[in-house]
Amino acid sequence: MVNSTIGSNTCLVGLQWGDEGKGKIIDILTESFDIVVRYQGGSNAGHTVVVDSEKFVLHLIPSGILRKNKCCVIGSGVALDPLQLLEEITELRKKNIEVGENLRISETAHLVLPYHKKLDELSENEKGEEKIGTTRRGIGPCYTDKMARNGIRVTELFHVNYFKERLKKIVEEKNKIFVRLFNADPLSWEKIYEEYRGYAEQIRPFVCDTVVFMHDAVKAKKRILFEGAQGSLLDVDYGTYPFVTSSSVTAGGAAIGSGVCPKQIHKILGVMKSYTTRVGGGPFPSELNDELGEYLRKKGGEYGATTGRPRRCGWFDAVAVKHAIMVNGAESAVLTKLDVLDEQKTIKICVSYKFGDEVYDRFPADLAALPRCQPIYKELPGWQKDTSKMEGVKDIPSNAKNYINTLEKILGIKVEMLSVGPDRSQVVSLI
Ligand code: GDP
Ligand code: IMO
Ligand code: MG
Repeated sequence: MVNSTIGSNTCLVGLQWGDEGKGKIIDILTESFDIVVRYQGGSNAGHTVVVDSEKFVLHLIPSGILRKNKCCVIGSGVALDPLQLLEEITELRKKNIEVGENLRISETAHLVLPYHKKLDELSENEKGEEKIGTTRRGIGPCYTDKMARNGIRVTELFHVNYFKERLKKIVEEKNKIFVRLFNADPLSWEKIYEEYRGYAEQIRPFVCDTVVFMHDAVKAKKRILFEGAQGSLLDVDYGTYPFVTSSSVTAGGAAIGSGVCPKQIHKILGVMKSYTTRVGGGPFPSELNDELGEYLRKKGGEYGATTGRPRRCGWFDAVAVKHAIMVNGAESAVLTKLDVLDEQKTIKICVSYKFGDEVYDRFPADLAALPRCQPIYKELPGWQKDTSKMEGVKDIPSNAKNYINTLEKILGIKVEMLSVGPDRSQVVSLI
């Protein structure tokens, strides 16, 4: 297929609140790249790829792993849960996917430890109504420890005495929080130590200095694809704070989390769903709390790939996506799940928000404003035709073309690829 990413190191980012269909698009683009690298997030991600009706859900391992003769890298910016990683490797191998020398793990990635998951759980329960609705994978507490310089990195697993001493000290500290603050049971550092020593030996073959690996790859002119996780509106700086994840989701995070210099990232490609979803708490101006929202959830299979939670659904929010395009510097995008809108008579795009007497056409940072913003919609006629079997541009119904062109105009970017079904084959190139 025609692919504008050829020859450019490309960063693929979600332009909404996650689950835009990034995994599927990464799998398709991987054909044109040598290396696929995850640079942030952890097992809070759930990237689904369907190949010949077989479904794969990747949480930590880049979605490029399904293609032969490609190398997948888990960069320094990732929060690495070794248990999750090992389970994922086992699952892939069961399905005859090779995981060996084609997987590299950064020795400076921070480890997710049992106390991170416990803290995630306890602090979410404590929050009540104000819950973020995290995936409870320990992501927030892991990044908190990293920034507080209280984390443990992959490399430390191999310095046995250092690891033991550090773990003991940290677990003793965490236990004070569990017991005194949450009235919960303490954890045993000895148990965690034994468990993680076991993981260390199993992950050892994959661990390396990925900074050197990536720099050698750049020098050798290998083609690199950066796989964003989550979505830009969950970015810790530019998302709907505090209802966000704890990492730099946007393209800037790709350089930091992979150790590749920003100048070596040549193209930023956004992925956006033809409507909007959000899982967890937080403002969502174009949310549909009605039958249509329920219809989109059912037709789009909008249930979390990581937690199974029903995703909140709504119309495409161009105000939010324009903000995401700006903070990423995305030049073009892939539009996914067009087929989910096939039966709609009318399709709406949220083009601005009304808040009191004011009309916003830019995304407000003020969290007091956003939940009270009312969407202002532009209405377009639906196409009411099955798009899931389209083979080329000629098959796109004219009202669907109109929807795509309208989005392009409002957003100021080119849609270069359409996705019209979960399978690897259900994609139409527009360039
Ligand atoms: P990611 O986190 O961005 O990789 O997205 P998820 O995998 O969490 O969610 C996307 C869901 O939509 C998955 O179940 C995919 O199999 C499915 N999917 C991806 N693209 C399409 C599409 O174009 N049409 C339909 N109907 N489903 C799609
Ligand atoms: P992918 O890569 C959708 C959401 C959670 C919660 C918030 C914080 O599959 O698109 P966290 O566990 O990260 O502390 O939760 O972020 N969230 C996601 N939502 N897709 C994801 O990843 C997400 N990863 C985290 O639901 O609202
Ligand atoms: Mg997902």
